[in-house]
Amino acid sequence: MAIAGIDIGGTKTAAAVGDEQGTLLDAVRVPTDPGDGEDTLRRLTELIDPLIRRHAPDGLKAVGVSAPGPLDCHGQRMLTSPNMDWSGLHLGSLLRERFDAPVYMNNDANAAALAEWMFGACAGADPFIYLTMSTGIGGGIISSGRILQGVNDNAGEIGHITLELDGLPCSCGLKGCFEAYCGGRATADRLRAEIVDRHIDTLILEEAGGDPARISMREFSAAVRRRDPYALERWDEYMERMAQGVGSILMAFNPAAAVLGTIAMHEEDLVMDDLRARLKAYTWKPVYDGCRLEVTRLDRLGERGALAVALAGLSGTQHV
Ligand code: BGC
Ligand code: NA
Ligand code: ZN
Repeated sequence: MAIAGIDIGGTKTAAAVGDEQGTLLDAVRVPTDPGDGEDTLRRLTELIDPLIRRHAPDGLKAVGVSAPGPLDCHGQRMLTSPNMDWSGLHLGSLLRERFDAPVYMNNDANAAALAEWMFGACAGADPFIYLTMSTGIGGGIISSGRILQGVNDNAGEIGHITLELDGLPCSCGLKGCFEAYCGGRATADRLRAEIVDRHIDTLILEEAGGDPARISMREFSAAVRRRDPYALERWDEYMERMAQGVGSILMAFNPAAAVLGTIAMHEEDLVMDDLRARLKAYTWKPVYDGCRLEVTRLDRLGERGALAVALAGLSGTQHV
């Protein structure tokens, strides 16, 4: 029998079919409608159904769902976040009905941590941390072979630790969060506003074809590579905040390995050596020395993560 995974994200939602070892067999994705989960999942189901029939003629054993927090994993719902509101949707019953299989749910970064821990370059390292630097910043913490869920499944929300007293507003409603300084969306929004308001002459804008609306992390890093002075100044702040955030997590968990995703992976040459150097100012030497710091090498980590949630659910290592 096979398993399926649904990875819900702010911009895209993906579905995957895998075998019982968690190997990814096939995957599809659709753009996410942040206000209409039912329609997004309907479009996704239409694409994945024929693939499920091909790989799993005798049905699915489990479906894993991964989604950004805040979550109510027990009730199998996403809670309201400013970027996305699918809170009216009972994902558990909807998907159970649609796929006729038990549904397990977990945070997207927890899911990625599980997949990375099973299949990645630092597989089996314990304690283990996965940290995603994507639209938002998320984390998954594995200790003694289990993902740390927290009392109501919101452990590992690394993006919302406070870096600054009375700091920048975060989309979560708090102030001064790590994500407000280093999240992909928050960073791009802040650059865009500053460039427009102050009429800043920068290659970031040129990279975006002169259209501020197209500024993202990609245009930011491209301008850094071209040594644009404004971009370099902002990149220096960005990297210092990243070191502060990652350093705090290393100090809290003393992990054997920490794997970073998304921006750290896409911009590995810009980020990793610089981060390693800066981290020394935020960590004790034994903590620093004890931690292998890597970027993820797995493709389709979101999809693999959702499959890992199904596996973890079946093996009972995760309570939902
Ligand atoms: C959410 C996390 C999520 C991360 C990446 C953050 O804003 O709070 O739950 O893991 O974004 O999607
Ligand atoms: Na998490
Ligand atoms: Zn926050």
